[in-house]
Amino acid sequence: MRCLTEIHQAPRLPKAGETIHGYKFFIGFGGKGANQCVQAARMGAKTAMVCKVGKDFFGDNYIQNFKNNGVSTAFAKQTEKAATGAASIIVNETGENAIVIVAGANMLLGQEDLQHAQSAIITAKVLICQLEINPDASLHALRMAKENHVKTIFNPAPAIVDLHSDFYKASDIFCCNESEAELLTGLPVSSVEDASRVGLDLLQKGCGSVIVSLGPQGCVVCQSINVAPKLVPTITVTAVDTTGAGDSFIGALAFYVAHYPTMQLEEMARRANLVAAVSVQKVGTQTSFPFRKDLQSELF
Ligand code: RIB
Ligand code: NA
Repeated sequence: MRCLTEIHQAPRLPKAGETIHGYKFFIGFGGKGANQCVQAARMGAKTAMVCKVGKDFFGDNYIQNFKNNGVSTAFAKQTEKAATGAASIIVNETGENAIVIVAGANMLLGQEDLQHAQSAIITAKVLICQLEINPDASLHALRMAKENHVKTIFNPAPAIVDLHSDFYKASDIFCCNESEAELLTGLPVSSVEDASRVGLDLLQKGCGSVIVSLGPQGCVVCQSINVAPKLVPTITVTAVDTTGAGDSFIGALAFYVAHYPTMQLEEMARRANLVAAVSVQKVGTQTSFPFRKDLQSELF
């Protein structure tokens, strides 16, 4: 998904019915799919975005933003039938966020569009999908990739309780955060042990591997080839804005899968943690995502 993103920085998140003073407001580019694609491109991956935006001012700007980041827009379509998707984000003083998205044109991305993008999907090294479009479209794309031996990364965000069981089977890497894992499994996730438990639960549903991200604690990696869950810690940094950190992680992960196919998944996750750690130290989502030149050479 790609969408217009309004970011409000405030001392804390408001409660229902409450009005509070914030101290900064700005508009940026967002949407999980777009963010992930841009992060992979900034690290040096050859990328294409399959998406739908409105035939409006924001849609034009979004397509230009992809071009500016070196992402192919051959399959980024504009429609007159709906407005470009939008997101409102509130970030508190500790860098945590709450997000409301209005998917708009994203929901009009359908099988016809995927058919049109088939050549790109089936020849890619990696396909990443999320749930900010119609879930049927995501599942269809994942299946197209799987049937053609393209590695799939699925990010079930925003999570839905009744996720179709085929999503698990179509995911080489199933990558979610604590709250998504809770919603999908019905199990609480507030520790590394919990994350290991839900990771195994999700793995049993048929994924190749599962990564449960844990913010400042890093992530837990579970693999069907080596079932013991493994904590992959990250470095301690001062978080300013964690919005999109998961997207930075997934974009970086996709880059590693594409460029270093024989690298151990845990090592890819360790490096992706470090890329995401750079992103949380700056305000915004894409505005905070590092380029290859900003990252230590050990990460390549
Ligand atoms: O993951 C963060 C993203 O989710 C934001 O960029 C926002 O647009 C929402 O889609
Ligand atoms: Na950030």
